[in-house]
Amino acid sequence: MPTELVIKTLPEYKQPLSLEDAKLAINQLGKNLHEHAYIVGGILIWAKRKTGHGKFEEWIKQNIWFSPRTGEHFMAYAKECDKVKQLLEYHGLGFKGVDSTPLNWLRVYNVWNFAERDESLGIEYPGNIPGQIAMNVIHYYTNEGDLVVDPMAGGGSTIDACKKLNRRCLAYDINCVRKDIQYNDITKGFPPETQDCQLIFLDPPYHNLLQKDYVASSVSSLALNDFLDFIEQLAVDCHTTVKKGGFVTFLCQNFYHKFASFDGGCTNFTIEGYKRFTNAGFQLVNEINCPQTSQVYSAGDVQLAKAQKGMLNLVRDLFVYRKVA
Ligand SMILES: C[S@@+](CC[C@H](N)C(=O)[O-])C[C@H]1O[C@@H](n2cnc3c(N)ncnc32)[C@H](O)[C@@H]1O
Repeated sequence: MPTELVIKTLPEYKQPLSLEDAKLAINQLGKNLHEHAYIVGGILIWAKRKTGHGKFEEWIKQNIWFSPRTGEHFMAYAKECDKVKQLLEYHGLGFKGVDSTPLNWLRVYNVWNFAERDESLGIEYPGNIPGQIAMNVIHYYTNEGDLVVDPMAGGGSTIDACKKLNRRCLAYDINCVRKDIQYNDITKGFPPETQDCQLIFLDPPYHNLLQKDYVASSVSSLALNDFLDFIEQLAVDCHTTVKKGGFVTFLCQNFYHKFASFDGGCTNFTIEGYKRFTNAGFQLVNEINCPQTSQVYSAGDVQLAKAQKGMLNLVRDLFVYRKVA
């Protein structure tokens, strides 16, 4: 079996479902083992816990083609990688190399730091997010078979995340760049087939930040007050569309009129959104930091910021709302 296929057959977490899965996954990797040394080590660490005290060595001897000593090396390697990975993530850098497989999307803390976009989640598109954000939202706030709606789908990262996690997805935009995105202008409301969905994923333009990249009818062309009125109506429409107990996630970056450290003014869309979503009847249930990477700024931006004592913004928040009544 090709390596990619074996990895795909593993559950999305680094851990297999049973010791039999662990055995199959490792043995099927065969001589390609080295390419996935980090994952193999992770599976063995899990299997050691599962087999219980003193039984792990015997389990390896009976089930795996390499020796317990080699297994110990894989486990030590995975533990070291974890330390390096944590260090890199702390500095906002990606963990490349041995673990570049899609198994690496799950986040257990409420800071979702992704240095790079997973290419299999959404096509290149102005303002597209790392699709791993959509994967986590869908993982935490829906179950298999649930209906997810993305009314401003862009390059379709939500659609691909839903496919991977077996959720149904209805995606819309005024600029349809894929066949599985249908035309709908969200300022006119949600299409009827979205009624009673479990999750609405909102990634609107961050006001006029990318206005030049979007079509003229985009909400990014609205004046600031009109844009805030649009968010207000959107919150009301979400409330009538999502089912009771369902969720709406709102991803937004603060909008600084100049630099983040200046008095040029800041419109905090997270707070503006909070006022409007709670007014519409939603309850805030989680706040997740999804920082942008510094790569969004050019060397020129950095130089200008330094020269003018300005601070560049990387803060981006995802607020999770629940329809409680
Ligand atoms: C930040 S992008 C979404 C990116 C997407 N999450 C991704 O990962 O590719 C915002 C999207 O909102 C869309 N949009 C703007 N105004 C809209 C409107 N009135 N109705 C529907 N979509 C709109 C834009 O065309 C753009 O694709």
